[in-house]
Amino acid sequence: MNQPLALLNQLTSSEFLDQYWQKKPLLIKAAMPNFAGLLSPEELAGLACEEDVQSRIVEYKNGQWHTQHGPFTEKDFAALPEVPSAQHNWTLLVQSVNHFLPEANALLQQFSFIPHARLDDLMVSYAPNGGGVGPHFDSYDVFLLQGQGKRLWRISEQTDLTLVEGAPLRILKNFDTKQEWLLEAGDMLYLPPHLAHWGIAVADGDKDCMTYSIGFRAPKNQELASEFLGFMQDKINQDAIPLTGMYQDTNLSLQAHPAEISQAMITSVSAQLQKIQWPASTVAEFLGRYLSDPKTHVVFDANKEISQANFVKKAVLTGLTLDLKSLMLFEGEHFFMNGEMMACQGDAAAAILKRLADNRLLTPMDLADHLNNSELSLSLFAWYQAGYLHFPD
Ligand code: SIN
Ligand code: CO
Repeated sequence: MNQPLALLNQLTSSEFLDQYWQKKPLLIKAAMPNFAGLLSPEELAGLACEEDVQSRIVEYKNGQWHTQHGPFTEKDFAALPEVPSAQHNWTLLVQSVNHFLPEANALLQQFSFIPHARLDDLMVSYAPNGGGVGPHFDSYDVFLLQGQGKRLWRISEQTDLTLVEGAPLRILKNFDTKQEWLLEAGDMLYLPPHLAHWGIAVADGDKDCMTYSIGFRAPKNQELASEFLGFMQDKINQDAIPLTGMYQDTNLSLQAHPAEISQAMITSVSAQLQKIQWPASTVAEFLGRYLSDPKTHVVFDANKEISQANFVKKAVLTGLTLDLKSLMLFEGEHFFMNGEMMACQGDAAAAILKRLADNRLLTPMDLADHLNNSELSLSLFAWYQAGYLHFPD
């Protein structure tokens, strides 16, 4: 489990976490030797034309940055300069490619030394020679894996993070290169959050640059708080908030202004509200539901009608695999699938579900002798019907 990895410059996952994660950049030459990419520029452009794919074209034209959001048409691509120049260049960025390509999902699995709860998606970019999104910083950790072509990465540890005013993306006003590396196919660069960077596409013969960004997510504390409070609204009548009784004012004294909210009332209500507390299990449930909740544009296609008995028969023969868009997490014996929670009784069934969550698939061997557990087979069947999991192809 904790062997030195080529993917991490011969560090073990623990060494990487201790020394680099969220701390400093790491250049990894030949992180994935022979990696030539997972899809062609044409296939990436094809994805960017699909309704349910999130994509952007960033154009640099006469000293200004412009962003357009997909879905795109062939006409949009035809309008881009055929021969890019220093005055006019562009890049195409496609988000969540792992939702559409099994190979991209498999690539992300190699980064399982970071918890799934922190993973965001695989973004793939394409840019002709000289293209890119300009000097900027991101709020999140990212591994930048080079596909076909090359990219010149410049990084800067500058604290001046002033942005160009009025630009549609966060471009740094001043960029002070501290180090630069030319990444070739299979090389990778890890960047912690807020580190200024600038990737410039470099064509390699007839191969333009494609970069694979393995991106992580870290909710803002403000966002966690507001989501948590929303979640708690549903819990208001449950044990999580042990408030009983009603407002009392046995010692009410005569007020000069009947319309005034008295200090006594504020103090009394404050004291009640300060009793609001929640056990760690409530936070665990909130995190499980929130972090496994798919982004708003994600939809699942329900699987066609099949009886539970036939589902079980087939599953033990073929195994099961999570849908590419499914998010599955667990805490103890609580399982979170695409925002829904399922509590699982029994160690054997929980072990199977943990394996499904960790590996995103179950082999026939994993399932052998376990689908006679009616609770487990019912849950898997319900998830299958909802399109959250499938039989492998
Ligand atoms: C890119 O792949 O063009 C941009 C990646 C980044 O700088 O975050
Ligand atoms: Co970036």
